[in-house]
Amino acid sequence: IARTDYAARLLAWFDVHGRHDLPWQHPRTPYRVWLSEIMLQQTQVRVVIPYFERFVDALSDVRALADAPQDTVLALWSGLGYYARARNLHAAAQRCVELHDGDLPRDLDALLALPGIGRSTAGAILSQAWGDPFPILDGNVKRVLARRHAVDGWPAQPKIEKQLWAIAETLLPDTRLADYTQAQMDFGATLCTRHNPACLLCPVNEDCAAFAQGRVDELPTPRPT
Ligand code: ADE
Repeated sequence: IARTDYAARLLAWFDVHGRHDLPWQHPRTPYRVWLSEIMLQQTQVRVVIPYFERFVDALSDVRALADAPQDTVLALWSGLGYYARARNLHAAAQRCVELHDGDLPRDLDALLALPGIGRSTAGAILSQAWGDPFPILDGNVKRVLARRHAVDGWPAQPKIEKQLWAIAETLLPDTRLADYTQAQMDFGATLCTRHNPACLLCPVNEDCAAFAQGRVDELPTPRPT
């Protein structure tokens, strides 16, 4: 099936089965999307939600975060773990005030220059906050694409990761980029799971190479031991 069909099928699935009530979706501002993506880097959605709500209640925009004492930021983060995330977030907000007039930049390279933002997080921000056509490639999406294209090799290996980024670029739809990003996350988390994926319910099983080859259980290739 064609590239736009892949996205269209995922989006149709997302409309029915995806998550539409996450707090960072309402309203979906750049600040809220950014904060949620940093919290979600190493923490599950259901754990993040109450922390997210408390954080944005206390510090409601980039400037408020930049101006807050570090103790306040760390206290709001307390319990989430990986505290470097909170320190990077705070420093990044201060840079946004210095360099970008107190806003998050709508630019891939400017986002990548901020502490704590890698390529996938930048893509998640650009697509969800502005609907710009940038892919994401987190652990879930790597698994989905390694299966769909039967890519052999451990996905964290630079050569394999490069292939997966190229595939992710080719699959981007022309519309609904924010929903497409969320759809991929929800799809990877609920259907195309690491163990026992629900291939018979999958909206894109028709063009999944791993499914066609009976190799869903072997892909993605595990980390070499
Ligand atoms: N992990 C990272 N970003 C996410 C999101 N927007 N929804 C669910 N899980 C995520």
